[in-house]
Amino acid sequence: MSSQVQQTVRRIAAPDIQARKGAEPIVCLTAYDAPTAALLDAHCDLLLVGDSVGMVVHGLPNTVGVTMEMMILHGQAVMRGSRRAMVVVDMPFGSYEGGKEVAYGNCARMMKETGAQAVKLESGPTVPETISYLVQRGIPVMGHVGLRPQAVLTDGAFKAKGRTEEERLRVIAEAEATADAGAFSIVIEGVAEGLARDITEAVSVPTVGIGASAACDGQILVTPDMLGLFDWTPKFVRKYADLRGEIDRATADYAADVKGRRFPAEVETYFSKKPASP
Ligand code: KIV
Repeated sequence: MSSQVQQTVRRIAAPDIQARKGAEPIVCLTAYDAPTAALLDAHCDLLLVGDSVGMVVHGLPNTVGVTMEMMILHGQAVMRGSRRAMVVVDMPFGSYEGGKEVAYGNCARMMKETGAQAVKLESGPTVPETISYLVQRGIPVMGHVGLRPQAVLTDGAFKAKGRTEEERLRVIAEAEATADAGAFSIVIEGVAEGLARDITEAVSVPTVGIGASAACDGQILVTPDMLGLFDWTPKFVRKYADLRGEIDRATADYAADVKGRRFPAEVETYFSKKPASP
């Protein structure tokens, strides 16, 4: 079977990521729009259209209010902007917890309408069964254990996980169940180095850490955090740019130029041609 569309670059796919277990670290970032995805594409193995979009783009207090429609629009934009990286779209809160058939309907819609290569589900206790159902029906799934942002209302806050022995064992069990269910990779969020190491050793698929130490098979950060768009970021974020300072400086310069009538100048102005003399 061959497509009519000429694909000059083959996208990285779930089996490529899976094969990276214990090998070269997997480079991942979140992406929400086409121009940013186009810039990140050359440097990343995997772009995650995270439901963090609700907080970092739409100004929501947490990810609970994120909808299927939001994720589809952002997923489509990231697919249009990128060519090479694997694109994974987060399934929003409420779209997969209500039963495996409901989850299948929503995940299939997400894959069809965005063209993404996989979906990500936060792997709470009931979710591995759903992951197995989805994978058996052709939907590649990335899991997410440790701090699960969609559980913020039951947890009461975004809290690191695995602080007690009981919780540590529960997170390991959830990761093992997620891998056994067929997830091709697992995000580990907000756990100490020892627990990240134990999970990474316990599962046969690559782990991707966020606030989970260097003991994982890959790393992911929320892109606006690492580009320095916000004044506060968690301890685990390294800022590789100062976008906040740059945007502030550029906007102040623009405002000063408009007020001082220095913008637009002649070079930025259209002039009508003189009518030809009769
Ligand atoms: O939504 C998101 O950006 C995520 C990352 C934190 C992994 O799930």
